[in-house]
Amino acid sequence: MTDLSRVLAGIEEQLSVPASLLKEIADQFQAAMTAGLAGKPSSLKMLPSYIGVPTGREQGTVVAVDFGGTNVRVLLIILTGDGQVHISNRRSFLLKDKRKNYDFTTASASGMQLFDFIAGKIAEIVPTTDKTYPLGHTFSFPCHQYDINEAELISWTKEIKTAGVEGQNVGQLLQAALERKEIAYVYPQAIINDTTGTLLTAAYRDNATDIGAICGTGHNSCYLEPVHPLTNKPMIVNMESGNFSQIMQTKYDLCLDQDSEKPGAQRLEKQTSGQYLGEIVRIIVSSLVADGHMAGEPANTLHLPYSVRTEDLSTILADHTAGLEAVAEVAAACWNLGNLTLGELAALKTIARLVAVRSARLVAATWAGVLYRIDPELNRTHTIAVDGSLYEKMPGYAEYLAQAMNDVWGIGAKKVTIRLSKDGSGIGAAIAAATVYSWQ
Ligand code: BGC
Repeated sequence: MTDLSRVLAGIEEQLSVPASLLKEIADQFQAAMTAGLAGKPSSLKMLPSYIGVPTGREQGTVVAVDFGGTNVRVLLIILTGDGQVHISNRRSFLLKDKRKNYDFTTASASGMQLFDFIAGKIAEIVPTTDKTYPLGHTFSFPCHQYDINEAELISWTKEIKTAGVEGQNVGQLLQAALERKEIAYVYPQAIINDTTGTLLTAAYRDNATDIGAICGTGHNSCYLEPVHPLTNKPMIVNMESGNFSQIMQTKYDLCLDQDSEKPGAQRLEKQTSGQYLGEIVRIIVSSLVADGHMAGEPANTLHLPYSVRTEDLSTILADHTAGLEAVAEVAAACWNLGNLTLGELAALKTIARLVAVRSARLVAATWAGVLYRIDPELNRTHTIAVDGSLYEKMPGYAEYLAQAMNDVWGIGAKKVTIRLSKDGSGIGAAIAAATVYSWQ
């Protein structure tokens, strides 16, 4: 065994999630759900959404605002009332753009500026006829929800820092911005989390859907609690599972966490989501270089945080060439590591795979935890609706999730379908706005 393969074997051991650990995490997750729902200390916030699942018969033309990271999407959506959805217009806007010299995601920008920008973009795509449009707002951050249209931001995640929004009612901030811009023809009806949107979109067509998740820049899941203690009826609960804190951290996770915007917070998200997977790989590779297990000059850019993106990991994982040319290109372009041997390139690919597999298996363990709560014997079929770039685009990710479910349930896993809910986050906002009357 070479020195590098010996060290790699050690890394693999630290990152592996065997079937026994999957089940252990699922048990702990289920216990954290129960505690969170009962208002006891738990790393799961278990936030009520004040919405259940749609019937599929909701209809109308609805404006959807989808704000989940550094870009915002505005969509005009037609719900036909027979489970079908048409997107009649959509545009995406960056919340920070160096070339245009603005950034609404830093601490020097205010909530008022941020929501004025969003309201301006709504005006750009919604036709100003004499018609009025209900608006559904997907706001993908942890919020205390007091009603379907009242959500107070608990704290920013995904490294966003805009001032004056934490602790505020996000619905009012958007409403005030619409008023300042005199956009009276759009009236906000619902605010939801993106996981809820993903669940609603899939449930509009498939009534077995009872878990929704985002595996993208951020990570989180929600589920349908059959009898919610607040309402005594079915209600979607945003678990904020990215904050689940009972999974062991490796020294690489600890290093990432310490240098992050909010150390200690969002521990599962930091081990699983697209915002962070590239950074975990960078930290591992830079420790290999620093300890002399891999070649590399001290002056290379490997020490720069977030210098490899999750898209680059997808490129690495998709490379099946004999010379691992795409892996070499990523190492050279991101880190100036231009002189790696084939063995070192293979090691880089192995590290990317181990980090991606761990992410998928940890996420699957939390879904197993939800199923342990709502249907422990798997007596019914379940659809888990997922949106996000990791699930959609990272080579192998969907298979790793399915494999983990098999490891937990064996043949029973056939009753669980994991499916892409494409654009579910935005479309779900429209469904939520259209569902409001029927649910209350
Ligand atoms: C947020 C969640 C969101 C997830 C996916 C996390 O950082 O806290 O509310 O659902 O990202 O966008």
